Amino acid sequence: MSAEQELTGRLALVTGAGRGIGEAVVHALAGRGARVLATDLDAEGVTALEKTYEGRVTARTLDVTDPAAVEELVEEAERTLGPLDIAVNVAGVLRVSPVADLSDEEWAATFAVNTHGVFHVSRSVSRRMAERGSGSIVTVASNAAGIPRTGMAAYAASKAAAVMFTRCLGLEVAPRGVRCNTVSPGSTLTDMQRGMWTAGDEEAAARRVVEGDPSTYRTGIPLGRIADPSDIADAVAFLVSDRARHITMHDLYVDGGATLRA
Ligand SMILES: NC(=O)c1ccc[n+]([C@@H]2O[C@H](COP(=O)([O-])OP(=O)(O)OC[C@H]3O[C@@H](n4cnc5c(N)ncnc54)[C@H](O)[C@@H]3O)[C@@H](O)[C@H]2O)c1
Repeated sequence: MSAEQELTGRLALVTGAGRGIGEAVVHALAGRGARVLATDLDAEGVTALEKTYEGRVTARTLDVTDPAAVEELVEEAERTLGPLDIAVNVAGVLRVSPVADLSDEEWAATFAVNTHGVFHVSRSVSRRMAERGSGSIVTVASNAAGIPRTGMAAYAASKAAAVMFTRCLGLEVAPRGVRCNTVSPGSTLTDMQRGMWTAGDEEAAARRVVEGDPSTYRTGIPLGRIADPSDIADAVAFLVSDRARHITMHDLYVDGGATLRA
């Protein structure tokens, strides 16, 4: 089967689908023939995707921090669109701050989306997938979950929790035919990445990301470039496909070698 067709007949839920990596995941899945329920806190991006892929992409607003809203949407989706075969947790937030200055609100808001959101969505879909005996879940985490970064303690800890949660879930549902994996991107050119750069200094900031920054103990990117969202989306598309049918509880780093997998 050609790559353009390999997800034909599948229904996928994507969170954080309105822009950046989530939007690229929608393109990757819909481009391979899947029907996609594209969800985001903001309506704008997912509504545009619905127009682009008329009939194949359904747009809905969803706040993944709200467990009741998640359950309601998954229930409605399965009733109106059919059983979900794929779920991709992409919604995420980044608050950069040294621990000494990190507020309770910043810590809680980070975990609310990056960890609790992954729990809410994965619990809801995996229960149904396990009953049917098949399904695939991918959580987009971060390479910051595997290597310490200054100013990113809340983010890194929330992502490390999401990775281990997804692996434990993978173990529980493996006998029921459901696979759970994580994709851990390194620096990827999206609004989240640009949000860490000073306006007017983008070129120098991008160079620092690629070259590394000893003052912040930051390794560079050996492959010499910042990822495009599609680099991450391709890894997601592989993991949800039957080509990865024997892969579960795996954490796939897509970071150009930045963490040296140390
Ligand atoms: N960009 C990077 O360098 C990078 C690196 C590693 C990991 N990641 C991870 O990849 C994922 C996507 O990041 P991105 O760079 O595309 O970010 P982005 O900020 O461009 O997009 C994030 C999306 O998540 C949505 N979102 C935020 N809170 C939400 C909520 N409560 N409910 C539903 N949707 C919500 C936003 O509306 C937005 O559309 C995130 O989980 C992020 O942590 C990004």
